[in-house]
Amino acid sequence: MSNIGSYEARVKDFNWKMAEVELGYGNNGKYNIGYYCSDRICEMGNGTKAALTWEGYTGETKQYTFDDVRIYSNSFATILRETGLEIGDRICVFMDRIPELYISFVGILKMGGIVQPLFSAFGEDALVMRLEDAKTKAIISTRKHLGKVRRIRSMLPELLWVIVVDAGDRPLERGEIAFSMEQAPKVDTIEIANVGPETPSVLHYTSGTTGKPKGALHVHSSIVAQAITSKWVLDVRPDDIYWCTADPGWVTGTSYGIIGPWANGITQVVLDAGFSANKWYAFIEKHKVTVWYSAPTAIRLLMKEGLEPVSKHNLSTLRHLISVGEPLNAEAVIWSEKAYGKPFHDSYWQTETGSIVISNYPGMKIKPGSMGRPFPGITAAVLNPKTYEPIQTVGTVGLIGLKPGWPSMFRMYWDNKETYDKKFHNGWYICGDRSSIDSEGYYWFVGRDDDVINTAGHLVGPFEIESALLEHPSVAESAAVGKPDPINMEVVKAFIALKPGFVRSDDLTMDIMNYIRKRLSPLAMPQEIEFVDSLPKTRSGKIMRRLLRAKEWGEEIGDISTLEND
Ligand code: PRX
Repeated sequence: MSNIGSYEARVKDFNWKMAEVELGYGNNGKYNIGYYCSDRICEMGNGTKAALTWEGYTGETKQYTFDDVRIYSNSFATILRETGLEIGDRICVFMDRIPELYISFVGILKMGGIVQPLFSAFGEDALVMRLEDAKTKAIISTRKHLGKVRRIRSMLPELLWVIVVDAGDRPLERGEIAFSMEQAPKVDTIEIANVGPETPSVLHYTSGTTGKPKGALHVHSSIVAQAITSKWVLDVRPDDIYWCTADPGWVTGTSYGIIGPWANGITQVVLDAGFSANKWYAFIEKHKVTVWYSAPTAIRLLMKEGLEPVSKHNLSTLRHLISVGEPLNAEAVIWSEKAYGKPFHDSYWQTETGSIVISNYPGMKIKPGSMGRPFPGITAAVLNPKTYEPIQTVGTVGLIGLKPGWPSMFRMYWDNKETYDKKFHNGWYICGDRSSIDSEGYYWFVGRDDDVINTAGHLVGPFEIESALLEHPSVAESAAVGKPDPINMEVVKAFIALKPGFVRSDDLTMDIMNYIRKRLSPLAMPQEIEFVDSLPKTRSGKIMRRLLRAKEWGEEIGDISTLEND
């Protein structure tokens, strides 16, 4: 029997108070996520249980118990306090998937800081944009990424400290602190910041169509939704070995790669290495993974490798498989059933929702290709894009809307109330995705309602790419759109009009691609560049990305006036 039991019965009975009671949230006036992810698990007698088994790319492994997480996160909280950082200060974690990333995340929350996770592959422009916006006070990082941080430091007057977790005795510059989690004096007890349920906790940047990336601000009570969805959707149980393949630079890697599993006292495993089917299967076999939360791009890569590597490994420990981030094709669900004897269960949510809002639940009939049904406690609908009224007709496509009020919903876009307000209409939060609902209440994803590019499950904003492209000496104007890709769903394609004096060439193409990879990230790098004489524009001069995109997807362009959305 799964944790959720009967979906229908849960929907009928559910209220968020029950989820609070289940977690003991607020007992003795305690609301801090950091406490619930470490101290509370130890208080319940599970201090010696493994919290994290980590494996690096060389195969080296390290293990940390919940008591280790408790103590080491105390050490992080202490050093942060000693530097003068306070409740509400933004503290960025900018590391590969090393143990310090997971444990400092808990430590920052314990001292009341707002954790700002940034993907370690981000380049200097991507970093500056997000650190400037958040007025980040400190960064926790490693030597590997210190060069990038040093090069942008002078542009960030608010940044007081850079804490380097692997500096050893190496010389550091002013404002940099060497701090080794394992060598620092052990701090058995600290005063955990006495935050309330509405105190900000995590700030995740996400891309939109226009403007800079936006910081979705979450609060400590988000844990109530993250814990219950981990239990009911991911179906985690006390003896599980849980593997979330997402990087904590993205929301899946924090909501379900740190908070959800640890709030439930679950052992999780982390592989800090690149992808290969054999490596992944060997990892599952070695660590006896039981619950696996991954993404369609990874599943498609595994499908490409076929059944042979599957047959070489013992994957019989796998009990429950879940996917997120992009549409999960029906073929992938059917293939996983053949390969692993278990279907992947699709789940849908966003940085802004903070936790899973629509999903296929264990024990419920899966319809391959459908995202499933709303989580109990979430009121969802598909809305008419003009009136924002729920569409009653089965199968009609509209905008996914959610009734505000669940605990993990973002509370604001950092310093950007205007954009935040635009996400709400007629009492609904508008996700920005299109879907239909069938006669049994299952949601069928159709596509995004904006120009954001979803590549391998990661959202990339065209504006950010276009702004960076304009900094390249050869580029006069540009447009970035998503083009279909059999593995990554979409990849970035850039249309570029060159400045006079520049000649189209393969060398220039490579140079521009590398420029974006370094300045932003490998994900944002255009996989294809098409040089054009000029770009299609609306009467008011706005570049018509949708026209370019439609061509890439072989879609009907139709009435161009509808594309001129300005
Ligand atoms: O477009 C939807 C897509 O990813 C977007 C959210 O991305 P992000 O905020 O980066 O969070 C990703 C992980 C939660 C959504 O607006 N998306 C997410 N899950 C699915 C999906 N598209 C189709 N099917 C899904 N299951």
